Amino acid sequence: MEKLAIFGGDKVKTTPFGTGKRFGDEELQQLKEALEQNTLFYWFGNKVKQFLDKFKTMYGAEYAVATSSGTSAIHVALGAAGVGPGDEVITSPITDMGSIIGIVFQNAIPVFADLDPHTYNMTAETIAAKITDKTKAVVVVHLAGNPAEMDPIMELCRPRGIKVIEDCAQSYECFYKGRRAGTIGDFGCFSLNDFKHISAGDGGMILMHNEEDYVVAHKFADKNYNRFSKNPQELRKIEYIAPNYRMNELTGAVAIAQLDRLPWICERRNVLGERLTAGIKDLPGIQIHEVKEGNKSSYWFYMFRIDEKAAGVNRADFAAALTAEGIPASVGYLPACVYEYDMFKNLEGFRGTHVPFNLPEYGREIKYASGDCPVAEEILETSIRLNISEFYTEQDIDDIIHAFKKICAHYAK
Ligand SMILES: Cc1ncc(COP(=O)(O)O)c(C=O)c1O
Repeated sequence: MEKLAIFGGDKVKTTPFGTGKRFGDEELQQLKEALEQNTLFYWFGNKVKQFLDKFKTMYGAEYAVATSSGTSAIHVALGAAGVGPGDEVITSPITDMGSIIGIVFQNAIPVFADLDPHTYNMTAETIAAKITDKTKAVVVVHLAGNPAEMDPIMELCRPRGIKVIEDCAQSYECFYKGRRAGTIGDFGCFSLNDFKHISAGDGGMILMHNEEDYVVAHKFADKNYNRFSKNPQELRKIEYIAPNYRMNELTGAVAIAQLDRLPWICERRNVLGERLTAGIKDLPGIQIHEVKEGNKSSYWFYMFRIDEKAAGVNRADFAAALTAEGIPASVGYLPACVYEYDMFKNLEGFRGTHVPFNLPEYGREIKYASGDCPVAEEILETSIRLNISEFYTEQDIDDIIHAFKKICAHYAK
């Protein structure tokens, strides 16, 4: 048996992981063209428009709105879905705050649905358990490039008039039964922050299927100004409050060039993620990052779980052993489920107040506590996260697999 690096043996990974450049001449050329337009305002320039056209074509979607971030894209979708004070919005307890922020800013109440233990996504069953007469929308988070099971979710929500917003911030080119996540619900929201598959520094977009949603979303992302009207008097015919979440032309320019890279990035991540799964799926105590049959993940990260009994080692020691072998690994993903954050435990939506939880429009008691979503909590307690990069080589993945095998052989009885 090979001696583990953590106990003084030789490391598995002796060569650096593959890296590469994310931006190049294409982005520079686009930026130059944007500046030469002599305007960086999306309504006057062409870059944001070109970007949206390209994204719509790629996704086969009819309407798209650009925003300043993934968070704002979700807020705009919520606004366009008519979410307001007193409404409940069901979402995931393992997600970025970007899924939650818009809900609270609309003075609505986030409600958390438990997750599938191995895909880490919400399911129709876990959502159904949280539906009340106040449920206005569901923000379905496709975590880490892996699609949620959308058909049953749509079958649950559609007849009840519940709007479905897909949070695809981590899930570009991720396929549910051959369809792209982001085109199945009423709205699909994406992020261009610097950590995502593609980056424009920050930015976001929303896909939708009908003109009415498009007009409302477009206005909601731009102070509720009506830029569609030919009558200048109608620009500021403001009916209710909406933020300024506009994308500027520089962001749009970079995003155009980034879209060209997207299919390759997602394909590579898929190949590498699948290779890793194939290499570790039969090891004792290792529970892979499951992608349901017929779906395709673009692996924003790879998160597996440890069954400590079968593996013969606890997760902290397994992660430490991997790291010692030269494979960076971090325990869990978030420090706790989102509903365990102080703002929820203390019901403090806006600083120093209990709004929106105490609004008369809501008129109900809500409490958030550890134990609310037991499967999600178990996921965070037993998972280890690995990076996946499109620049990794097959050899990098084989080295990771080698390290897994070495560690499992050492610990498993
Ligand atoms: C699942 C999820 N939703 C929403 C967001 C928010 O995106 P942004 O950072 O662009 O606001 C993120 C970003 O980390 C995310 O991972």
